[in-house]
Amino acid sequence: MNPSRRGVIVSNVIGILLDLKTYLGILRNQTGYEHIDYYNQAAVELGMTPFYMCLKHVNTKSALGLCFENKNYTLKRLPIPKVIHNRAMTLSPTSLKKLKAIAKISQVFNGQNRHDKLHIHRLLRASANSSVFLPHTVKYSRENLVKAMNREDSFFVKPTNSSVGKGIIKVAAMPDGVWQVWWSNQLPRQLAQQQTIDFIDGKVNSQRYLIQKAIPLSMYEGRPYDLRVSVQRGDKGQWGVTGIAGKVAAVGRHVTNLAKGGEAVRCEKLFLSNGFDPVVKRKQVEEAAILIAESLSIQIPSISDVGMDIGIDHQGAIWLIEVNGRDQRYQYKHLNLNKTFYRTYETPMLYAKFLLSK
Ligand SMILES: Nc1ncnc2c1ncn2[C@@H]1O[C@H](COP(=O)(O)OP(=O)(O)OP(=O)(O)O)[C@@H](O)[C@H]1O
Ligand SMILES: [Mg+2]
Repeated sequence: MNPSRRGVIVSNVIGILLDLKTYLGILRNQTGYEHIDYYNQAAVELGMTPFYMCLKHVNTKSALGLCFENKNYTLKRLPIPKVIHNRAMTLSPTSLKKLKAIAKISQVFNGQNRHDKLHIHRLLRASANSSVFLPHTVKYSRENLVKAMNREDSFFVKPTNSSVGKGIIKVAAMPDGVWQVWWSNQLPRQLAQQQTIDFIDGKVNSQRYLIQKAIPLSMYEGRPYDLRVSVQRGDKGQWGVTGIAGKVAAVGRHVTNLAKGGEAVRCEKLFLSNGFDPVVKRKQVEEAAILIAESLSIQIPSISDVGMDIGIDHQGAIWLIEVNGRDQRYQYKHLNLNKTFYRTYETPMLYAKFLLSK
């Protein structure tokens, strides 16, 4: 018989760790990007009980959280669940320490979900399966900036640990030693070599940055696009691609992030507009994403749910731009891909059930 605590079959409980704000929003139905109903629906269909937690209310043995049973939430103190799907962004040392402590007694998947871009690049470079998809990338230094200007026609200078397209600079060579520099939402400026170096170095301002060769991204209506690819572990622990969404940069912008005015467009539409066979290209992207996820998870075993930014160049070659550890998934909502949106919540629940059964 299953051990139970006040009606809950403890062995069927799946922990879902949320940021405090999201957790507190559950009963008010204000959970921002997190579509909590989808976790509930998937877990119930799988015979599991979702238990929503936040690190503030967790100790090393138990957690006070919201249990979803019989279509209702109940506040309960339960033992730390055997399996926990982490959706919280744990950046402070205290929360990281707590997360580490519960990971000793529970299988926390996606525990570490904020990854330094340069660190990920180095891990992926080490494997032949994934290194072929990586644009040349080095740590930022004034010296490496000068080298990049001698070597590349165009490159990006990016913070190694930021998101939503913040702080990203694009640089492209023009005739006569002039450089075109894109920064923030301003019109690109044209600068001489030394001015370019001083401008970039001033923006970097001792923060941790990297320099990455620019992928000549395929265009849609004259605007560059890339793809957000949701790569998740499923019911047998295997990696799969749950969905792909295109992101087209706003007119004049050098980043495609939806938070920076980018437009979500179905990838088939984008592929067709470039003369790529949509079925073939989609399959190639999926295969690349799975190879990348597999090679990354050898090095970081808890990784199980990522959103990759993947670019396609003018020749149709596939390039990895970055790996996001906490995909917001809402691109599918923008695109009315409701089944895919649901599956991005269902797949981690299938994986959680698999982990529980092990
Ligand atoms: N090497 C590159 N070549 C071409 N475009 C690039 C390159 N690096 C970044 N970009 C553009 O800038 C966007 C943002 O870059 P990136 O995804 O690395 O940063 P981010 O701020 O972490 O975004 P996210 O919110 O997805 O975490 C990319 O989606 C792409 O449109
Ligand atoms: Mg990105």
